[in-house]
Amino acid sequence: MRRRKFLKNSSTITAGLISAPILASCQETKSVEPTASKESIGIKPIAICTWNFQNATAKAWEVLKDGGRSLDAVEQGVMIEEADVNNQTVGKGGRPDRNGNVTLDACIMDKDGNCGAVLCMQNIAHPVSVARKVMEDTPHVMLAGKGAEQFAYEKGFEKVDLLTEKSKQEWLEWKKTSQYKPIINIENHDTIGMLAIDKFGDISGACTTSGMAYKYGGRVGDSPIIGAGLFIDNEVGGATATGVGEEVVRTVGSFLIVELMRQGKSPQEACEEGVKRIIAKNKDNTDFQIGFIAINKKGETGSYCIQPGFTFRQYSKEGHVNNPSDSFINS
Ligand code: GLY
Repeated sequence: MRRRKFLKNSSTITAGLISAPILASCQETKSVEPTASKESIGIKPIAICTWNFQNATAKAWEVLKDGGRSLDAVEQGVMIEEADVNNQTVGKGGRPDRNGNVTLDACIMDKDGNCGAVLCMQNIAHPVSVARKVMEDTPHVMLAGKGAEQFAYEKGFEKVDLLTEKSKQEWLEWKKTSQYKPIINIENHDTIGMLAIDKFGDISGACTTSGMAYKYGGRVGDSPIIGAGLFIDNEVGGATATGVGEEVVRTVGSFLIVELMRQGKSPQEACEEGVKRIIAKNKDNTDFQIGFIAINKKGETGSYCIQPGFTFRQYSKEGHVNNPSDSFINS
């Protein structure tokens, strides 16, 4: 199958099968909660994350409000979603690849540009914490597959069966036909990417996902790739992504957005430019979703996506809000 065709198909792989939870996620954008202005006024500390993962930002805020470090805030924040078996796109409970294996990707990056990542790792419930161990305890940045899993055991992580009965039954159902139905904005990428600034003004980020449902075995998206799914430069800001990872990798999206902020763009302007670069490479097919969020050194935030429906959560002393993102389509 040609790569372009696979991407088109894969963005809709589970359309018929998982539309209910994804639609639920999209419907959350109709929340009546107060929303922050599109570009908030520069407040610290602050935590933001892709989608409406309010328990994750609440956990990050617990760390930040007591003077904790942004690195701890983003790790502990995204761990909430990794542990939530009802979240079928991150951690335990995530949808498997087409062979029935749940494989997880995650990365973390700190204020000093240190970073760690695990790719295609099985049987470990908290890949973000293994990524942090890679960053702190090894001379490497990325560990993949069996090597990452073995490293996790050496660091004391327990072996866990990540495939829940619900995800298993859905996979067995999908296997009967493996049919792809194109439905706009029904995608299986509720990856959580989180960015935080602590009271010291230091920025960190984390990103974690089970990746594309029913992907080829061994497939890795953008989420654990530093510069694609996540990038932090403590002098400038940070960015992270959700959506079809192949397209984010092609533009090194998060690095691009941070560099655009370095050149003077606001987080909002930088996210918009990031999405437009992806659109420019996909003029004939924009029926997939990508969402970026970004924060700058001042604590100003921004977001932009291709399809309507993407939101991002924000927690600061000004409140805990779910911000609908502007989108390239219908914007
Ligand atoms: N953005 C997550 C993935 O493509 O795997």
